[in-house]
Amino acid sequence: MNAQAVGKSAPDALLAEPRGWEKIRSTLAAALYRSIVTHMPLHWVRQGFLRAAGMRIGRDVAILTGTTIIRPERISVGNGCMIGFDSFIGGEAGITIGDNVNISSQCLMLGGYHDPDDPNFVAILKPTVIEDYAWLATRVTVLAGVTIGRGAIVAAGAVVTKDVPPYAVVAGVPARKIKERNPEACKYDLAYQPWFF
Ligand SMILES: CC(C)(COP(=O)(O)OP(=O)(O)OC[C@H]1O[C@@H](n2cnc3c(N)ncnc32)[C@H](O)[C@@H]1OP(=O)(O)O)[C@@H](O)C(=O)NCCC(=O)NCCS
Repeated sequence: MNAQAVGKSAPDALLAEPRGWEKIRSTLAAALYRSIVTHMPLHWVRQGFLRAAGMRIGRDVAILTGTTIIRPERISVGNGCMIGFDSFIGGEAGITIGDNVNISSQCLMLGGYHDPDDPNFVAILKPTVIEDYAWLATRVTVLAGVTIGRGAIVAAGAVVTKDVPPYAVVAGVPARKIKERNPEACKYDLAYQPWFF
């Protein structure tokens, strides 16, 4: 992406494209992770690499194999989180994931989009927040700039285009509320690190 703008609704993410050594480091880390490290069947190897690349990762976290991570230094993952196989985390504008968040396999978290009416096809980057105890079921897509509230559930295959309120259960394309979750359920500690996955 050559042209880039930060979304107007991104007050705390006035993040310019990294330059010079920072850009080389970030891009190389993402490329090495995607092509080699993500396939290594040991959590500590993968997470050690991502931490060295600047990603903030809490304790008891599992980031399963096959995941692609862009701009790891702009991504933060809390304690007890699970990120499933083959997910995509586009951290260009920052992605903050709280504690005990369950992201099932093949989810996409996008960092931005292009302005189709701009002659430079400018990229608009917006930060994404996924709060504590949220659960994204399999193959959910989260568009840039969205906040998924505490304890919210996004049903399989949904595309999230707007903020999801706390404890809402949303489904479909675009995702719409289908019911509410019991807030009292959000007390567990996820500590799931399956061997060799
Ligand atoms: C989130 C989820 C668990 C909700 O399931 P649920 O509580 O049983 O939901 P319900 O059956 O009460 O559904 C309520 C309504 O939403 C609809 N709905 C449920 N899931 C849907 C989905 N993924 N997409 C679109 N609509 C959906 C139902 O058809 C139902 O509609 P109706 O009232 O017109 O009949 C489920 O949608 C889901 O995503 N399951 C997959 C979980 C998964 O990914 N597991 C693997 C990794 S852990």
